[in-house]
Amino acid sequence: MVPKHIAIIMDGNGRWAKSKGLPRSAGHVKGAANIETIARAMKKRGIKYLTIYAFSTENWIRPKDEVDKLLELLEEYLTKAYKNAEKNKMRLKVIGRRDNLSEKIQKKIEEAEEATSMYDELVLQVAFNYGSRDEIVRATKAISNDVAEGKLNVDDINEETLSSYLDTKDVPDPDLLIRTSGEERLSNYLLWQLAYCEFYFSDVPWPAFSVKNLDEAIEEFNNRNRRYGNV
Ligand code: FPP
Repeated sequence: MVPKHIAIIMDGNGRWAKSKGLPRSAGHVKGAANIETIARAMKKRGIKYLTIYAFSTENWIRPKDEVDKLLELLEEYLTKAYKNAEKNKMRLKVIGRRDNLSEKIQKKIEEAEEATSMYDELVLQVAFNYGSRDEIVRATKAISNDVAEGKLNVDDINEETLSSYLDTKDVPDPDLLIRTSGEERLSNYLLWQLAYCEFYFSDVPWPAFSVKNLDEAIEEFNNRNRRYGNV
């Protein structure tokens, strides 16, 4: 059995680059290329959803040239998704805060989402300018507005309501979270959505995380005695 939805925290780009005597940006470039390899392998294995953490709401405090590099990589990635939409048959979605991204990037995001919206072999959610607490605050504001405008009744608000106001609406919650490079933290990632998820931590830095490592994670997932319901 393969998980239906895998979420990944792609950690260790900087350390990987340093270990090779390269600048941190080289780690991000190699890391971005690895997304394609892993996504393709997942599609082959029948995994339907992949969510990757590309840039967090906290990442803006990194040095400007590193932030610029990550924005550039997102742009490249969106352009590629747009161009290869038909070949890849992957649907691309970007989750996270949009209003403080440049208009150019916002437009590129919309174009890539639109161009891939008819594909469903693999749905790739890229978390960019994403923070789970920020997502929950934005959802709470949207719910409050709808209550104030009489579109929603307070007594009708339940867990499904909140889920449907999150950026991840229409996508089932992840069943497996992988974090690479030895760190064992959630870092404000999908706090609501990971409520019942299995966690897998790998020491391998993201740029070196291979299809074999992915298969090991899936095997470990299968060996765990998953209890459905509430534990
Ligand atoms: C963590 O490594 C990784 C990130 C902050 C960004 C992940 C981004 C990519 C894989 C490339 C960008 C891809 C897209 C689609 C925009 P780190 O730099 O924190 O590594 P370190 O902990 O070793 O310093």
